Amino acid sequence: MIAIGKVLAVHASALEVRLPFASIGEGVCVHAQGSLVRGEVSGVMQGRAIVLAHDPCGGVRAGDEAVSEAHALCAPLGMQLLGRCVDARGCPIDGGRAVRAPLRPLAVSAPHPHERAAIDDSLWTGVRAIDALLTIGRGARIGIFGPPGAGKSTLLHAIARGTYADAIVIGLIGERGREAEEWMRAAPRHAAIVCATSDRSAPERIRAARLAIAQAHALRSRGLHVLLILDSVARYAGALREVALARGETAGRAGYPPGVFAQLAASLEVAGAMNGGSITLVATVLSDGDERDPVSDAARSLLDGHIQLSSSLAAAGRFPAIDVPLSASRTMNEVVSARHRGDAALVHAALASLAETADARRLGMQPVEAQAAKAAAAEPALVAFLRQGGRPEDPAATLSQLAALADTLR
Ligand SMILES: Nc1ncnc2c1ncn2[C@@H]1O[C@H](COP(=O)(O)OP(=O)(O)O)[C@@H](O)[C@H]1O
Ligand SMILES: [Mg+2]
Repeated sequence: MIAIGKVLAVHASALEVRLPFASIGEGVCVHAQGSLVRGEVSGVMQGRAIVLAHDPCGGVRAGDEAVSEAHALCAPLGMQLLGRCVDARGCPIDGGRAVRAPLRPLAVSAPHPHERAAIDDSLWTGVRAIDALLTIGRGARIGIFGPPGAGKSTLLHAIARGTYADAIVIGLIGERGREAEEWMRAAPRHAAIVCATSDRSAPERIRAARLAIAQAHALRSRGLHVLLILDSVARYAGALREVALARGETAGRAGYPPGVFAQLAASLEVAGAMNGGSITLVATVLSDGDERDPVSDAARSLLDGHIQLSSSLAAAGRFPAIDVPLSASRTMNEVVSARHRGDAALVHAALASLAETADARRLGMQPVEAQAAKAAAAEPALVAFLRQGGRPEDPAATLSQLAALADTLR
């Protein structure tokens, strides 16, 4: 049923609307002079609906017509979006023509447990350290954690360049405009970019994240294996927090209302493998080493693996600055061969031992224990193996280098 109402008051990114039978989550279009503003009912009180505007509400005035319309919460999604860069509304920002694709709802739900398929295949990324030691299962959810400037976004670029996926969806949420431009220049042709930079309103940033997730969902429904990149989940959570606080929810840890983590979980749960098609999620999580940071805490528990970047490795110019001993892939064991698993375990142990003996070795003390001594002798080879420039490495080459490295540690 379509209900017609009226705008009563306008705030920065929310509208108060008199709208009969309004209910939370409903889509609303406001026909303002010269513009259409879409939004979503986020609260109903005393005959007024609070509508979060997904578009800038600069031109809206009290008295404008507001209509409940499901398509306010839809966007053009599907194959036609590949090779394109769009904003939170699905409008092109790449200078190209409007995207001609069927309108689909932005709200998508996670697959039911019985619809999920086991993760039993690997997703090669072309990044040696990941493919060899932190192998990602197709359909897994992986977080790239690190402080600002540790190389999270650059690692995402490398993964997008080197990954064997049918399609890539890149959601840029709350990052700088320059990054969007870099992605537009560098993204492969089978990638779709959805972008809401830090200057956009919180509802727009949330809508962009949902659009990226819904786009990945639409492609998986066609049987494609999709890589979904989100940069960054921390900024997405920040936008959810802003909206929840504005709605009057009570702040919890570090100012985050508890509902934010439920929403975050629901979004990340959409990823996964199904029979025919998968979404592998690789998301960045800003973490400055503060263990009490609730977003990285929540993300860690929601994800199937974490790749920890280290600012000291970055400062030493050792890129990608992956701190292997602090990283883990929970899907690795299901998707690699026994040989690969054994080789990787040896290298993991050697890297952990190097980290443990680093202080002593800096003081000139060499380890005497046999394994630690072997690790110390192999250090230059280990560092060379982990270090990688911009070119993706063929997974077969990665595995044979890993095997050779492991042999020196036996
Ligand atoms: N693989 C790399 N090779 C060389 N320099 C890198 C690499 N990754 C990151 N950097 C350097 O670190 C800077 C910050 O990287 P970026 O990916 O933007 O970090 P983050 O997203 O974690 O803030 C880059 O501008 C670049 O100078
Ligand atoms: Mg970044």
